[in-house]
Amino acid sequence: MAAARQSDNPDTQFYQPAEEFFPANNKLGLTFDDITLATLYSEILPRDTQLGTTLADGLRLNIPVISSDMDTVTEARMAIAMALNGGLGLIHYNMPERQQLSEVSRVKNHVHGLIQEPIKVSPDQLIGDVLALIEQKKFGFSTFPVVDKKGKLVGLLSGHVVKPRYAKKKVSEALTPRTQVHTVKKKELGKDPIARADKFFTEHIGIHKLLVVDDDDHLHGLITMSDVERITQERNAQFKPARDAHFHLICGAAVSATRNAFGELDRERILNHVGALVERGVDVVAVSTAHGHSKGVGDTVKVLRDAFPKLPLIAGNVTSAAAVEFLADCGANAVKVGQGPGSICTTRIVAGVGIPQMTALYVCSQVSAKKKLSILADGGVTKSGDIVKALTLSHAVICGGIFAGCNESPGEIIEIGGKFYKQYRGMGSFAAMKAGSAARYGHLPNPTQKVAPEGVEALKEACGSVDRVLAQLIGGIQSGMGYLGTKNLEQLREKARYIRVSPAGMREAAPHDVVELKTGN
Ligand code: XMP
Repeated sequence: MAAARQSDNPDTQFYQPAEEFFPANNKLGLTFDDITLATLYSEILPRDTQLGTTLADGLRLNIPVISSDMDTVTEARMAIAMALNGGLGLIHYNMPERQQLSEVSRVKNHVHGLIQEPIKVSPDQLIGDVLALIEQKKFGFSTFPVVDKKGKLVGLLSGHVVKPRYAKKKVSEALTPRTQVHTVKKKELGKDPIARADKFFTEHIGIHKLLVVDDDDHLHGLITMSDVERITQERNAQFKPARDAHFHLICGAAVSATRNAFGELDRERILNHVGALVERGVDVVAVSTAHGHSKGVGDTVKVLRDAFPKLPLIAGNVTSAAAVEFLADCGANAVKVGQGPGSICTTRIVAGVGIPQMTALYVCSQVSAKKKLSILADGGVTKSGDIVKALTLSHAVICGGIFAGCNESPGEIIEIGGKFYKQYRGMGSFAAMKAGSAARYGHLPNPTQKVAPEGVEALKEACGSVDRVLAQLIGGIQSGMGYLGTKNLEQLREKARYIRVSPAGMREAAPHDVVELKTGN
């Protein structure tokens, strides 16, 4: 009787939960655009949804978004921006190990609002030189700390004297002398430098700059009132920065399953490198390869798990339940799911392998709960709706292409025909493999032209700051959760119901039969 009543219910007949929907479509690999989510009764407003996600013991993000460990996506600047927004950046490994360590240090030592390496001038320079520097570098400011050859603070060159009429004067003649410059000792900044600076600016009417020095008066940074005001406003924002227990921003780093000259896993080198990353305070290490269900990756994860029992470990990439089980048994806390969905990937074309992303996520999620492992949906995300769909089966998404055009990604902005772009390339592209990522694809360190690349070199349109891009994505995720009546990500995973979309349905989903004046973003 109950069954008869259920089959009378059009909703349950058409909109199925994951456990029914995916097995019913088990002859077909489905990706984001193949499905849509059904709305549900809601008492939840988008702005009231919570996006926190725990990926491992001691690794919690305030938004479920991670930037890819790719050499055109994540270095320190991107990782800082991601963590400040509540997410995580994975520093890529296409650089010397020493450099990766210092990228991690830059993130871990980042003090929001403290300009750690302010542009300085010397007392012997002419004001005209300073004006030329401002013009050449397009600086939007004109006040500079003045230091001697040893980096000791000599004074402050205030913006109101950096004028063409004083061009022939020396900086030493125009500066505000050291005795009148307001400073704070680095060690006195304490746990909350912004609160300290905020108090200082309130107590010192008309002072807008605070310089940070050490005991010997060497300059270590600059805090401006406008930055402090912006940050104080941001503190009321819904999504707080992702920080560790010591209030440092969180940061991840990728490593490969490096082999020695005999083709064996180079345990010593991997252990030394990860040991150094841990010393720098790294919060999570990702063993990143194209094929995670392999002896090399399994052994690397085991070696790291034995040596660093508490270090959160991500491993990948995989698309099968057996692979998730394998990596869980080796000691991983989270797996990257995705083989071939990435916007720059050609693995499916070149190697004929890979699984459309929603099916891969469902299959992998079947084991992850049992093994208490997090699933990271890696690749293929082109819009916030894709993230909502991915999060019905995963704990966070990893994005490359969406962030590659941002100011914070590595690389210069290129102008072509009046439009602005940044380079974005697959880690399996020939150029990236030559720069170091060949091991990720199981090739020798210096691939020859005979190696088949599994990624392309491309351009992304420049798209401004990560803050702006993430604001759009987060808004979309919150909207989706509001439509499903889900307060948090656990509820989103429990309540989602799916239906397939026809090609005509897909066309219907995008703007159609209009002349677009302004795109959605
Ligand atoms: P999106 O779609 O965000 O994808 O640009 C980023 C993800 O793609 C993966 N990746 C590659 N996959 N060949 C591949 O098959 C490549 O050259 C390549 N480079 C990156 C990676 O998982 C990344 O996070």
